[in-house]
Amino acid sequence: MDTTIVVYGSMTGTCEAIAEKIAKKLGCECVNVQDLTPEIVENHKNLILGTSTWGAGEMEDDWYDGLMVLQGADLSGKTIALFGCGDCASYSDTFVGGIGELYNGIKGSGAKFVGAVSTDAYSFDDSEAVVDGKFIGLPLDEVNEDKMTDGRIDAWIANISESL
Ligand SMILES: Cc1cc2nc3c(=O)[nH]c(=O)nc-3n(C[C@H](O)[C@H](O)[C@H](O)COP(=O)(O)O)c2cc1C
Repeated sequence: MDTTIVVYGSMTGTCEAIAEKIAKKLGCECVNVQDLTPEIVENHKNLILGTSTWGAGEMEDDWYDGLMVLQGADLSGKTIALFGCGDCASYSDTFVGGIGELYNGIKGSGAKFVGAVSTDAYSFDDSEAVVDGKFIGLPLDEVNEDKMTDGRIDAWIANISESL
């Protein structure tokens, strides 16, 4: 039951590529949220959930159905880590807000959330993903800061690995 899976929602493939990279580093499976089922949720103790942000701070569209799958499952006892892609220059007021929307949908589920990230190394005006002064998951910006992505992923994985 101590298994880990990465689940992602991606409109144009950016978050998909990131999800595959994270899954490879963790040595686990990776599925599109379009294919998320109650059985997948039930059979994995650790859920690594990723979404890009669209609209004004919203989750990637497929996550609205995916969220219902999560909300219909028993998440107590599970460990959840969140990540997401955004654009801190063009969407500075709603930077990676999708991560925050996803978190808000499952924060009362009894799951343990790991992998919060300091806002210090990011430049943005506002974000729904900031909870108690930190990003509730890992923000990545492939539009403006792609050179920082690998380092950010490695540091984050080192952090969450202790809890998986
Ligand atoms: C119309 C539009 C709206 C967007 N809104 C936001 C936003 O509110 N916040 C943000 O951080 N990024 C926003 N983005 C940037 C995307 O999240 C970013 O390009 C991301 O890498 C796309 O990932 P995907 O291809 O996996 O969907 C937006 C992009 C577009 C084109």
